[in-house]
Amino acid sequence: MHKEIRNITIFGPGMMGSGIGIQFAQKGCNVILRARAQFEEDYAVENIDRNIRDMIENDCMTEEEGRMIKENIRIIYDMEEAVKDADMIFECVIEDMQIKQDLFKQLDAICPEDVILATNTSVMSITEIASTSTHRHRIVGTHFWNPAFLIPLVEIIRTVDTSDEVVDSVYEFLKWAGKRPVKVNKDVPGFIGNRLQHALLREALYIVENGIADPATVDEAVKYGFGMRTPVLGPMEHADMVGTDLSLAIQEYLLKHLASSQEPSHILKDAVEKGDLGFKSGKGIQEWTPEEVAASKRRLNDHLLKSLKDRE
Ligand SMILES: NC(=O)c1ccc[n+]([C@@H]2O[C@H](COP(=O)([O-])OP(=O)(O)OC[C@H]3O[C@@H](n4cnc5c(N)ncnc54)[C@H](O)[C@@H]3O)[C@@H](O)[C@H]2O)c1
Repeated sequence: MHKEIRNITIFGPGMMGSGIGIQFAQKGCNVILRARAQFEEDYAVENIDRNIRDMIENDCMTEEEGRMIKENIRIIYDMEEAVKDADMIFECVIEDMQIKQDLFKQLDAICPEDVILATNTSVMSITEIASTSTHRHRIVGTHFWNPAFLIPLVEIIRTVDTSDEVVDSVYEFLKWAGKRPVKVNKDVPGFIGNRLQHALLREALYIVENGIADPATVDEAVKYGFGMRTPVLGPMEHADMVGTDLSLAIQEYLLKHLASSQEPSHILKDAVEKGDLGFKSGKGIQEWTPEEVAASKRRLNDHLLKSLKDRE
């Protein structure tokens, strides 16, 4: 028997929290964003408005839907008031173990036992986040991808304590809400998506560090090469498509030549030391003008909105 989930409370009304709010409000859920201060409220309102405007301008949403989403989202400061009617709570505060543990401990103490508590941590252990709480069966990872209302995937991560009923209820709810949930059977750092993404980034940085190609060329090789088929062909299906015999032969020859360092790349360490933080400082691994930064963000959003429309 699945728990019906319609009343949602979200802690941390930042980029992810407000994006997740849009997704559920669009499906008619009552969404409460818990803010602690005016600046958090202002950010959430501005972010929600801008994203709704983008969706309307790209014909992915009607004006009426946009109004409905805003009506379904309320911002509440008082913690107990914010969780009073919640069926499920999503934690989207900053990526800090202590802050997340403290919040879960507090929520676990004040919410009835059937309220599901989920964390949107990107890579951290759900087991550790839940470790200071008492009712650990109702604590689960739900890892959304940014922008949360455009990217369908949500990884549902169970710990050894999470109950089957909680995992199944969250899965059914996310499917109902228009997401593409997948179940991750073990609570390992990085889950599925970030393990894959960072295996690729480690190799990309190795290629640059060793003068095999420059950063722009690496990106070009992905975007115009295997990246083009990735939306319809994952690596497992691809291994079968080319044949397990060829995949094995390639692994036998190639694996020993691939990056295997357990340490972060020098390129990243040096950049951070110099304050070259990427788009936000105009220089990271590469240099970026404000126009290039805006164009890159626009390209990504347009691409995602178009994919969303094509799927309808
Ligand atoms: N940005 C991404 O692409 C992405 C993707 C998936 C998951 N995540 C994860 O989602 C979570 C939120 O990330 P984000 O990118 O939305 O960050 P963000 O900085 O946009 O939002 C974080 C929110 O937490 C609030 N906050 C800060 N300190 C707090 C505290 N001590 N107590 C309570 N709230 C506090 C901030 O004011 C803000 O509202 C993180 O765990 C992050 O790892 C991020």
